[in-house]
Amino acid sequence: MREGMEDKMPGRNDPCPCGSGRKFKVCHGQPGAEALPAKPPGPLRKNNPRRAHLIKTPEQIAGIRKAGILAAELLDMLEDKIRPGITTEDINTWVHEYTKSRGAISAPLGYKGFPKSVCTSVNEVICHGIPGPRRLEEGDIINVDVTPILNGYYGDSSRMYPVGNVSPKARHLMENARECLDIGIAQVRPGAHVGDIGAAIQRHAEAAGYSVVREFVGHGTGVNFHEDPQIPHFGRAGHGPPLLPGMVFTIEPMINEGKWQARVLDDNWTAITVDGKLSAQWEHTIAVTDDGVEILTARA
Ligand code: MF3
Ligand code: CO
Ligand code: CO
Repeated sequence: MREGMEDKMPGRNDPCPCGSGRKFKVCHGQPGAEALPAKPPGPLRKNNPRRAHLIKTPEQIAGIRKAGILAAELLDMLEDKIRPGITTEDINTWVHEYTKSRGAISAPLGYKGFPKSVCTSVNEVICHGIPGPRRLEEGDIINVDVTPILNGYYGDSSRMYPVGNVSPKARHLMENARECLDIGIAQVRPGAHVGDIGAAIQRHAEAAGYSVVREFVGHGTGVNFHEDPQIPHFGRAGHGPPLLPGMVFTIEPMINEGKWQARVLDDNWTAITVDGKLSAQWEHTIAVTDDGVEILTARA
């Protein structure tokens, strides 16, 4: 917690925004709360990794920023490599090797059994596509989602890449999804609510005739891959937990050309649109600062 932020904070006797059901003063409102085991719904589990670091220390944010800069470098490195004829396995190799060369490791590799170092999601794939022998063709669109772990800290970011020349409608979808990310980030400041982010994103996507994926959401991150809070990319302004300085989470809207529903393939990872239409996604990891927001997955 930062000095001078008292008016933006929940009251000492208000419910803690981590959802523990405890009063703020005995939960994340106390000094050193990043180490505090919070009470999840259901039985109390000590040091639940999703909830233990709701408010990051400045030292933790500095570490996440370094991992985030590496994520941005990885995505920059791919900009002129992604073209017709390469395979998604090539992307995996480039990401894996570059990450290793920087003394970091790739969080996806082995995460809940995920077999590769990066997610590559082509055309109708919404997210969690597994790299393999598929060759990219002129006109494809692809999301590449990287999460290096550097000195124990996670930086989670993804971008869309056009493969050669793409159709105007594919380009428009990619651009709208990018705008959704920027508009979501623009909602972030202390005292705003998680619902403000989703409401703004949903409005922008649906105004263009697109839909917002519901099954996958943004998430707290930084000390563990996936932490609280969850950040839906749809919802109602003013609803959901308040944003507090020191929170670190991703915003990663998945925007569909057609229906919002997803289906997961038999590999248990690849999520595709139910109607086979295109999907696009961009992701940043951000920190709530004392007066606004800092994008952690961008070069300084
Ligand atoms: N990077 C993804 C996200 O944005 C998570 C990928 S999990 C994996 O949350 F196992 F598929 F890598
Ligand atoms: Co990601
Ligand atoms: Co993420």
